[in-house]
Amino acid sequence: MSNPLHAAHYADSARQCRVAIAENVQVARDTYRVRLHCEEIAGRILPGQFVMVRLSGCNDPLLGRPLAVYDVVPDAAGHALDLIYHVKGRFTTRLARCERGQPLDLWGPLGNGFPVLPCTHLVMVAGGVGQTPFLTLAKEHLGRQQFGAPPRSVVPVPRVTLCFGAQSHEFMAGIADFEAQGVDVRLATEDGSAGQRGLVTELLEQILAAAPSTGSATALRVVCCGPEAMMRTAAQIAARYQVPCLVSLETPMACGIGICFTCVAKIRQKSGWDYKRTCVEGPVFDARDVCW
Ligand SMILES: Cc1cc2nc3c(=O)[nH]c(=O)nc-3n(C[C@H](O)[C@H](O)[C@H](O)COP(=O)(O)OP(=O)(O)OC[C@H]3O[C@@H](n4cnc5c(N)ncnc54)[C@H](O)[C@@H]3O)c2cc1C
Ligand code: FES
Repeated sequence: MSNPLHAAHYADSARQCRVAIAENVQVARDTYRVRLHCEEIAGRILPGQFVMVRLSGCNDPLLGRPLAVYDVVPDAAGHALDLIYHVKGRFTTRLARCERGQPLDLWGPLGNGFPVLPCTHLVMVAGGVGQTPFLTLAKEHLGRQQFGAPPRSVVPVPRVTLCFGAQSHEFMAGIADFEAQGVDVRLATEDGSAGQRGLVTELLEQILAAAPSTGSATALRVVCCGPEAMMRTAAQIAARYQVPCLVSLETPMACGIGICFTCVAKIRQKSGWDYKRTCVEGPVFDARDVCW
């Protein structure tokens, strides 16, 4: 393939499509799920990859926004993409008002996504709307669905746990989707309205402290997505128990394809550190390499 340092290397492997919204429904407080029929992207996406989305013909905002792919669901023409978004600023506020049939521009699949994670217990730690990259990862690692073109093979993992934390239960979207796949879901809320009162990282600490196989290189794997402070704490806990941990960073992005350097994060190198583009060299990084 072309030079991987050149932005065209990434841009050329993505597809841009204009698709009509098939469904746009509220799934939690200030949180919506939009369904898009886009086989070109849905048929190729890997867990942890994302798409850039733009309101077609709209200049406010001018730039697209990155959204993780939440699910890939079969439809009459192949597959549809489900995205879950929390209403935050201009784009998500406008998207929440869009109705079925409204066109969106999207391009993807983007980013590195999660690698296959051989282990006996996969622990996913999500804060806020950080659960979005994990449903496909759980489906894949529980042997329920394959992703990518050609479909990627994964030896099923016996146990997958989602530690999900939010301010309150009303903000938690998709719990039933994870449970339906056989994921062991544990909740933490700041107001105590569901699960344990407190921080989601406390759930992670409890699991790692109780695990008989802690210290074994392949028994447990941790993946984490959410607010930076939460990911930093999860990374510290995983390091303390010597469990490998990957984080999916959510840095703001402008192009999504490696051109603008809006999205850089400080990543440790053999000597010192360097800026890496989250959109193409991430968003998934080894937690030990991130300079928090
Ligand atoms: C790889 C990736 C995957 C993502 N997946 C999802 C997803 O599945 N669902 C979802 O709801 N969101 C996701 N996000 C975050 C989403 O892209 C941003 O929240 C987006 O900017 C919202 O657009 P907006 O116009 O509504 O808000 P904006 O007007 O862009 O932002 C509103 C406010 O939030 C701040 N902000 C913007 N982006 C971020 C960020 N990434 N982190 C912290 N603060 C930010 C801005 O500075 C501003 O103050 C993802 C981000 C990345 C990089
Ligand atoms: S968003 Fe432009 S280089 Fe990453």
